[in-house]
Amino acid sequence: MQKINILIVLIATTLSVSAQNSLPDDYLTKEFHAGRRDALRKLMPANSVTVVFAYPERVFSRDVNYPYHQNPDLYYFTGYKEPDAVLLIFKEDQHRGDTAYNELFFVRKRNALQEQWTGRRLGAEGVQQKLGFKYAYTSDEFKNYPVDFTKFSNIFYDNLPDDLGSGTMGSLVKAFTEKAHITKPDNKYIAQAYSMLVNSTTPSNLAARIKRIKTGMSTVDDSEYKNDPLLLQLVNQPDSATLADVVRKIKEHPSPSFGYNQLVASLREIKTPEELALLRKSVTLSAVAHAEVMRAINEEMSETEIEGMFEYVHKKYGAEAEGYPPIVGAGANGCILHYIENNVTRVDNQLVLMDVASEYHGYSADITRTIPANGKFTSDQKAIYDLVYNAQEAVFPLCKEGTPFSSLNEKATEVLAEGLLDLGIIKDKKDVSLYYIHGCSHHMGLDVHDKSVTPVLQQNMVITVEPGIYIPKGSPCDPKWWDIAVRIEDDVVIGKADCEILSKAAPRKASDVEAMTAKKSPFNNMSFPSLK
Ligand code: GLY
Ligand code: MN
Ligand code: MN
Repeated sequence: MQKINILIVLIATTLSVSAQNSLPDDYLTKEFHAGRRDALRKLMPANSVTVVFAYPERVFSRDVNYPYHQNPDLYYFTGYKEPDAVLLIFKEDQHRGDTAYNELFFVRKRNALQEQWTGRRLGAEGVQQKLGFKYAYTSDEFKNYPVDFTKFSNIFYDNLPDDLGSGTMGSLVKAFTEKAHITKPDNKYIAQAYSMLVNSTTPSNLAARIKRIKTGMSTVDDSEYKNDPLLLQLVNQPDSATLADVVRKIKEHPSPSFGYNQLVASLREIKTPEELALLRKSVTLSAVAHAEVMRAINEEMSETEIEGMFEYVHKKYGAEAEGYPPIVGAGANGCILHYIENNVTRVDNQLVLMDVASEYHGYSADITRTIPANGKFTSDQKAIYDLVYNAQEAVFPLCKEGTPFSSLNEKATEVLAEGLLDLGIIKDKKDVSLYYIHGCSHHMGLDVHDKSVTPVLQQNMVITVEPGIYIPKGSPCDPKWWDIAVRIEDDVVIGKADCEILSKAAPRKASDVEAMTAKKSPFNNMSFPSLK
C-alpha cells in the first residue's frame, strides 16, 4: 500500500513536472542577465548609478492593451517581461544597516484577481527566485526606499516618456525625478545630435554631420535644441578643431541619456554566444518562412494572406512575435519603405516586396525578399533585381572586423550608382539618391534597429545588408521602370576575416528565387469554406 502511494506520488510529480516543462528551454539564463549587469558596472564611472525603467503598457482599444513589449534594455539586464518596474545598478556597494547591495529591482506587485484576468506575475519573490535578484521589492516601495540620488556624480537614464499619467509607471518616473531632483527632462534631440557627433556610425565627414544638425534645427520645433551652446559652437565654426573640442566637452559632462546610451550600446552592440544562438534561431526560422512563402505565392493571393503565411511559419517554430510590423507590398507599394497596410486583395503578376521577420525570445531578425508573384521576373524587373543583388555581393566581403561601418553604405551606393547609370535610369551618379533613399546596414538584436556606438565593425556584431532601388511612378526615367521596387536584406554576424550570412535559408539569387517559386507548398493544399 505504502509502495503504491509512493508510486502514485511519483507519477503525479513526473506528470506535473513534465507539464511545467513543456515550455521553451532556450531562454537566456539568470546568469546571463547578471553577467550583463556586472559588465555594465565595470564600464560605469566611479560614484554613478544607472536607472532603467520598464516600457509602459499602451492602449489598443478602450480597455484592451497592445500585447506588452518590454524595454529591451531592461530585458537585457534582468530577463523581466512585465511593466511597472525600475532597475537601479550602482557602481559601488551601497549600505543600508548591515546590508550591502549594488543593485535594486522594483517590480510589479502580485494580485490574484488581476492575474486571473491578465496573466501570471512574478512579483518580488518570483524575481528573487527565478531571476536571481537578491534585493527585489514591489514598485510601490520605490517612493520611500532610501536612495540618496543627489550624492552620485552621474545618474544615467534614458529619455523618460512624459505621457505616463497617474498609473504605476507614471508614479515610478515621478518618484525618481523627485528623488533625483530632476527638474527638466533630458533633451532627446540634443542627445541624438551628441551621439552622432561622438560616434559617427552615420556620415563620417564633418560637413555631412553639420548639415544633419542644421537640418534638425530647422525642422524640429524645440528651442532648447536650437540654442544648445555646443551644437551652436560647431555650426558657427565648422572645422575639425571645433569638432574635437565639442566632442571632448560632450564626453567630459555626459548628459544622462547620452551617457546612458553610450554605456548600454557599447555592451549591446557586441553579441554574446547566448545572444548569437537566439539570433541564429530567429533569423533561420524567418528565412525558412521566406522560402515557404516563395513556394506558396501565386497571383491570386492578397498581401494580407502573404503576411499571414509568414506569421504562421514564425509561430510554428515558436517565435512569440513579429520583429516589426510586416511589410508586404505588391508593385508600387514596394516603393513605400515602411508600407504596412498590406491590404491589396490580389497581388497579380507584380513584384512583391516582403520585409518580414520574427522576434524569438526577444531577438529580432530582419529579412527582405522581393519576388515575382507569378514566378518569373520580367527582364526589366530582373535588371533592377540583379543590380541590388550585386550591391549586396559587393558589400558582404567588407563585413568583417575593422571595416568602418560607413564603408558599407559607400560601397552599396557606388555599385547602385554605376548600375543605374549603365541602365540609363540616371545620367549622373549623384542622382542615385533619387532611387536609393536609405542606408545599407544597421545593427540588430533585441531591437530590430539595435543600439550601437562603435563606428568600426567588430567580431560578433550582427548587422543587416540591405541595399534597395525604388522607382516610384513619375520618376525622371523611362516609364518602363516605374513602380519597380526591389530590396534584398540579409543578416550577418561579423567575424575576424569574413562574415556569416545567417539568412541563407531564404533563396536570394534571381534564378534560385524563381526555382523556389516553382516548388509545391503545404499552403497550396489548404482550403477553407468561402464566406458569403
Ligand atoms: N524592417 C526594417 C528595416 O529593414 O530596417
Ligand atoms: Mn533592416
Ligand atoms: Mn527590414
